[in-house]
Amino acid sequence: MIKEQLEESVAYLVSKGFDKPEIGIVLGTGLGRLVDEIKNPIDAYYNHIPFFPLATVEFHTGKLVFGTIEDKKVVVMQGRFHLYEGYDFLDITYPIRVMHMLGITKLFISNAAGAINTNFKKGDMMLIEDHINLQGGSPLAFKNVSEFGERFVDMSEPYDQNMRNKLIEIAKDNGISLKSGIYASVVGPQLETKAEYRMLKILGADAVGMSTVPEVIVANHLNLPMIAVSVLTDECDPANLKPVDINEIISIAEKTEPKMVKLFKELIKQI
Ligand code: HPA
Repeated sequence: MIKEQLEESVAYLVSKGFDKPEIGIVLGTGLGRLVDEIKNPIDAYYNHIPFFPLATVEFHTGKLVFGTIEDKKVVVMQGRFHLYEGYDFLDITYPIRVMHMLGITKLFISNAAGAINTNFKKGDMMLIEDHINLQGGSPLAFKNVSEFGERFVDMSEPYDQNMRNKLIEIAKDNGISLKSGIYASVVGPQLETKAEYRMLKILGADAVGMSTVPEVIVANHLNLPMIAVSVLTDECDPANLKPVDINEIISIAEKTEPKMVKLFKELIKQI
């Protein structure tokens, strides 16, 4: 990875009016509507940003949106990049480095995930307290990583404790149910077999998904305080496994979205 490329991406966004955002937000599958809450939005389509990974046809609407929510300057990624689309670890975490260079000091991530913990149901939200990387690689495994920060990044507390506590309080105050648990990341795009769900449970995962962990690792590389929330879209109980329907996953994420928007908006207000 080359610093000059990042600088060019950032220069383009600054020229479009992306003026020192405080908070970066990554919106997951079926969770794009937070952008409707942005005041005075400025859009930058991924395809137009120099050196940005090229958005695939499926996600041609992928864009960064700058503006304010609750009077705080934010930059929101509507649509993220996944390994299963053929991107590599550097591609999918490139936007995190760009948002950091733009000036963000906090990062929020959302995603859709399957519920491994059988006490969790579809439509529940889960605050990620820790993770297990099962994607078989790292966004920090490249030659000149030390130009960008520490190579051997500490991961003893990757998800910011203060913001997690605050979000738990916000959920309580608003009567929103918010579970906490461990997220395992896989490459996908195929869903898991019963044997794999059984394995994930034994490993200690409460939820499984195909994103987020690379971004979290890079946020920690940048010493960027972050939190992540999963919307649980299917129940991965090997004893009662039903064929999963991607449209149902998206529809459950969309139905849960207003609660996620409420949590993120309140957190933006309070930090
Ligand atoms: N497995 C992996 N990723 C997912 C799932 C799942 O069951 N549901 C939503 N994303």
